[in-house]
Amino acid sequence: MTTTAPTVALSGGATMPRLGLGTWPMDDAESERVVAEAVEAGYRLFDTAENYRNERGVGRGVKASGAAREDLFVTTKFNKRWHGVAEAAEACERSLDLMGLDYLDLLLIHWPNPDQDRYVDAWKGMIRLREQGRVKAIGTSNFKPSHLERLIAETGVAPEVNQIQLSPLTTRGEARAFHAEHGIVTESWSPLGGDGVDALREPVVAELAERYGRTPGQVVLRWHMELGLVTVPKSSNSERLRENLDVFDFSLDEADVAALSALDRGEGAAADSDKFGH
Ligand SMILES: NC(=O)c1ccc[n+]([C@@H]2O[C@H](COP(=O)([O-])OP(=O)(O)OC[C@H]3O[C@@H](n4cnc5c(N)ncnc54)[C@H](OP(=O)(O)O)[C@@H]3O)[C@@H](O)[C@H]2O)c1
Repeated sequence: MTTTAPTVALSGGATMPRLGLGTWPMDDAESERVVAEAVEAGYRLFDTAENYRNERGVGRGVKASGAAREDLFVTTKFNKRWHGVAEAAEACERSLDLMGLDYLDLLLIHWPNPDQDRYVDAWKGMIRLREQGRVKAIGTSNFKPSHLERLIAETGVAPEVNQIQLSPLTTRGEARAFHAEHGIVTESWSPLGGDGVDALREPVVAELAERYGRTPGQVVLRWHMELGLVTVPKSSNSERLRENLDVFDFSLDEADVAALSALDRGEGAAADSDKFGH
């Protein structure tokens, strides 16, 4: 039987799978192949971005899968040059064109780039895109509570999702609490610790994997599920692709969730979006 992830209701009315496929750093050819394979394996959520330069491949993979469009949930993000009302609309159209789609499920402002100070205008553009039906849901990525506060104060509209760097090594407690208070779903990027899969190398992860009879990757992804997060692990490997989705038939004890959370290295271990962004 194919596993599909459970879903979460977003504040704007859309329904988002809790676990999907990250596509960075796949190129067009790889993302086309892996997205089609992932749909077959049960994935319904796909995460891409203008910056990954693979939107065309992701779109082709979606088409090649033969799945009904309404059964899939496609997210993309745009770079700082599109921070403006008209610019956000153009970014959306460019992504739709590249992917060969007629709507997006979720569009994110990729980084706040506070130096440029135009993310509120980008957000106003996003609100309009949702009203026009070009996107079903709108959100942000790498926004700190201070950036989110400004969006809410100046537009009265909170993002539906904020995608941030989050794993047992960077648990982002303050951000998660702010999101919960404002009805914002937290989505984890680099859920396994990123390219070096740093979170999987921790002895406690190995110990739990052994005890639960699961792989280190499954233990860490289950931790994301226990915290109520949405996440998008990346794998281009057939076996790991299936392994990562197979986390819905077991749960971690509270003490084990806490033991993983105790690996947190603090905010300083996460990328600082006041200093970095594209
Ligand atoms: N919003 C942002 O600014 C931002 C930034 C970074 C990433 N993202 C998104 O988040 C997604 C995930 O983040 P990420 O790719 O940085 O890191 P990740 O998903 O934490 O880790 C990916 C790495 O883990 C390996 N891997 C996957 N499953 C595994 C398993 N079960 N056991 C052992 N190794 C495993 C992958 O290799 P194989 O492919 O060989 O399996 C890859 O090297 C990205 O693809 C992207 O869509 C967003």
